[in-house]
Amino acid sequence: MSMSVIGASVLMLLLAGYLAQKYGLPPPAPKIAGIDLGTTYSSIGIYHAVSGNAEILPDLLGKRSIPSVVAWLPNGTILVGTHAVQQQEHNPLRTIYDAKRFIGRTFDAANPIFQSDKKRYPFEVKLDENGYAYFEIPLDTGNKAVYPEEVGSKIVSYLRNFAEQKLKTPLEQVVISVPAEFEEKQRNYTKRAAELSGMEVRRVISEPTAAALAYGLHKKKGVEDVVVVDLGGGTLDVSVLRLQGATFVTQAMAGNNRLGGQDFNDNVQKFLIKSLEEKFGKPIEDKEDIQQIRMEIEAAKLRLTTHLKSNIKLNLKVIGKYEQEITRKEFEDLNEHLFESIKEPIIAALEDARLEPASVDEIVLVGGSTRIPRIRKIVGQFFGKAPNFGVDPELAVATGASVQAGVIGGGWPLQVAAVELPTKIRKRHFYSEKQKQEETDF
Ligand SMILES: *[C@@H]1O[C@H](CO)[C@@H](O)[C@H](O)[C@H]1NC(C)=O
Ligand SMILES: *[C@@H]1O[C@H](CO)[C@@H](O)[C@H](O)[C@H]1NC(C)=O
Repeated sequence: MSMSVIGASVLMLLLAGYLAQKYGLPPPAPKIAGIDLGTTYSSIGIYHAVSGNAEILPDLLGKRSIPSVVAWLPNGTILVGTHAVQQQEHNPLRTIYDAKRFIGRTFDAANPIFQSDKKRYPFEVKLDENGYAYFEIPLDTGNKAVYPEEVGSKIVSYLRNFAEQKLKTPLEQVVISVPAEFEEKQRNYTKRAAELSGMEVRRVISEPTAAALAYGLHKKKGVEDVVVVDLGGGTLDVSVLRLQGATFVTQAMAGNNRLGGQDFNDNVQKFLIKSLEEKFGKPIEDKEDIQQIRMEIEAAKLRLTTHLKSNIKLNLKVIGKYEQEITRKEFEDLNEHLFESIKEPIIAALEDARLEPASVDEIVLVGGSTRIPRIRKIVGQFFGKAPNFGVDPELAVATGASVQAGVIGGGWPLQVAAVELPTKIRKRHFYSEKQKQEETDF
């Protein structure tokens, strides 16, 4: 064996030792979390540098999608997530949801749109002298004013706490996502929500960019134009992104802030209640009965994403036990006009970006409602290609925020420093018939 071969072997060993120390087991503790602070659900994840995977962490109840709900008990105790939802019915004045719709925004008290939106909520929404919305919560010690960013900070603290417990490592920094349409002030207040919980915000990333990162599109060859369709419980957002170098630039945005899974449920609910009333000749109005019907419909909708039919099992005060089958076809027929309306903002966004459907390279679906097979089909047929799948659509944004956190943290082996450029593009809004009457701008 020549000296140079021995020398090379020693060098290899040294290099291996160095690499093992730097990248091998045990892996460096992840320090930057990725957080999706959503309107209805929130999630937290981290990027594992060694495996190159983002992991979304479950809370102590095993849930990865945490309801964005915060409740105060009269004595000031705070509940977050599922625990807050469970007591919502008995504590409506102190259980705050939808806080994200108000964050970093000012309103005019005389505006009829604000007045009608305010009525939507069982809790008290007020405006301070600068027009910022806050929630007034009655406590034993008197009324407490809570701002939307404070509600956000309770959610961030909850996420951070269980993630730290699970990982057994402190998480002091965060990449947090915001809707693409958020203006600078809304981004600042979202940042403040994380800062109030003691975290340092390394970056604010827009939700569609995060979703594209979740699918690794920032390092996929030949990708230029990406369309992200985000359909959740109550909102539809369409974004057109262009990948330039390793940078996502928003080209266009459109959406409908009052279209989502809840509307699909409502149509089934109306149909079911009408048919039950006809069958039994009794009105179905009991609050708990209606609540039970709502929950069973939501469960049936989920089953219908993987099955062709499902049973809705009820035990109502007014009619007793009753079982009704619903097929996927029936569910689709009841909602066909809403499903079809998803194309309107897609067409508008493509028009603004001067793109033909066929020239879009990748389609990313985000949000629980994109699990509905008919919706995937309508979108796929429109573009003439199948949307990306594989990442849980409800966790895609948190996954992408975690990937971005990994990029910032220098997580090996991911080298592309994907970033996005801020946008001044305005979102185009679409309304369904019912909303045109309400004239809401939310
Ligand atoms: C506040 O009230 C809840 C429910 O009544 C109770 O479980 C909790 O122990 C109380 N907390 C304090 C600090 O008194
Ligand atoms: C947002 O925050 C930055 C940095 O703190 C500040 O310079 C900027 O003026 C803020 N913008 C708005 C619109 O509040």
